[in-house]
Amino acid sequence: MGALRNKSILVGVTGSIAAYKAAEIVRLLRKKKAIVYPIMTKAATHFLSPLTLQNLASQKVTLKLFSRDIRKAEHLSLAELADACLIAPATANIIGKIANGIADDILTTIVLATKAPVLLAPAMNNMMYENPILQRNIGSLKAIGFKFIGPARGDLADGKIGLGRMTEPQEIVECLEKVMQSRDDFLGKAFVVTAGPTREPLDRVRFFSNYSSGKMGYALAEEGASRGARIVLISGPTSLDPPSGVEFHWVESAREMHKMVKEKMGEADGIVMSAAVSDYAPARKENGKIKKTTQKKFILELVQNPDILKELGQRKENKILVGFCAETKDLEKEALRKLKEKSLDLIVANNITEEGAGFKGDTNIVTLINNKGKVEHLSRRSKREVARVIWDKIREMIENRGL
Ligand code: C5P
Repeated sequence: MGALRNKSILVGVTGSIAAYKAAEIVRLLRKKKAIVYPIMTKAATHFLSPLTLQNLASQKVTLKLFSRDIRKAEHLSLAELADACLIAPATANIIGKIANGIADDILTTIVLATKAPVLLAPAMNNMMYENPILQRNIGSLKAIGFKFIGPARGDLADGKIGLGRMTEPQEIVECLEKVMQSRDDFLGKAFVVTAGPTREPLDRVRFFSNYSSGKMGYALAEEGASRGARIVLISGPTSLDPPSGVEFHWVESAREMHKMVKEKMGEADGIVMSAAVSDYAPARKENGKIKKTTQKKFILELVQNPDILKELGQRKENKILVGFCAETKDLEKEALRKLKEKSLDLIVANNITEEGAGFKGDTNIVTLINNKGKVEHLSRRSKREVARVIWDKIREMIENRGL
């Protein structure tokens, strides 16, 4: 227990009659020793006084996007410090705005800027709740990792009984607590994550590489670290900033990556090998620059690089090995073959010909296959959300093995 102790929780309150219950939520969160930052939309202030929340939270209530104090952008600092953002009550309006990327007030701007998990407790009339537009908005938010608590069936503000009543404060706080607990579910565990492409030098100015951006691997490292794992991120050349809170190593070639992985694997509970390692490298690296000749053809000799993951699979002990594969056809067949060939526990396969999947973008469409042959297709979602699912699977494996 105590998952909320010292955690910074943003409590967003929007304009519903259920806003008065936000006071109880803040009180319960404070009882659990959370640091509560209330944020109210303008409509919310018609239902509940900011002063009430301010007293219960012992923190200033944020009401406006633009402050006269030019030294700080409040929405960014709150977005950054948040461990979680709870919006209770969440109206159809706020759900619609967030689902469509609108950021026209302090709350929606924070939601757009934060990397913390966002939980919403809808409260509205049952006819609004059942509206297909709202349901579509909820569906698209769920698909990218937003969590919904309720609503419940019961007495509504208009005197009718229906689905749309905000879940009771106690249950909302328990839900949030569970989410915060699961965020520490890798405490005491250590993982090596590889990311990005490798560069195989040909001469002083040229190299072989691939289109990997490193985004999937960095998302995995960030998500693992945020859940308490000690992460060593070994990255090929990317344009991304190293995520905070991870041990970071920059490598260039497959051979360098191989060496670094071997060096760092000893202590680890497993490896998530998301790097797009080049299978071949030029047989020789010219010291200078290869010059153009009169010859029309240039024949280059390539030699095979070590298969890092296969090697780890041959002496894996109790370590968890997760591999990736990028295919253009026969996705499942190829993934299954590699899973077996490299003795993996899980393979994450993506068909790079699909729109929204693969190397460069912010989203991915993947198929997960575990060592029992269970196949799971995930629809298109952000790389961070894919990372979340992968760590959930790893968590299950750790539990099954009693590690
Ligand atoms: O065989 P293929 O290259 O498709 O396998 C992909 C998986 O193997 C990825 O997880 C990749 O990081 C890993 N790999 C490796 N060493 C190589 C090539 C791929 O560890 N030389």
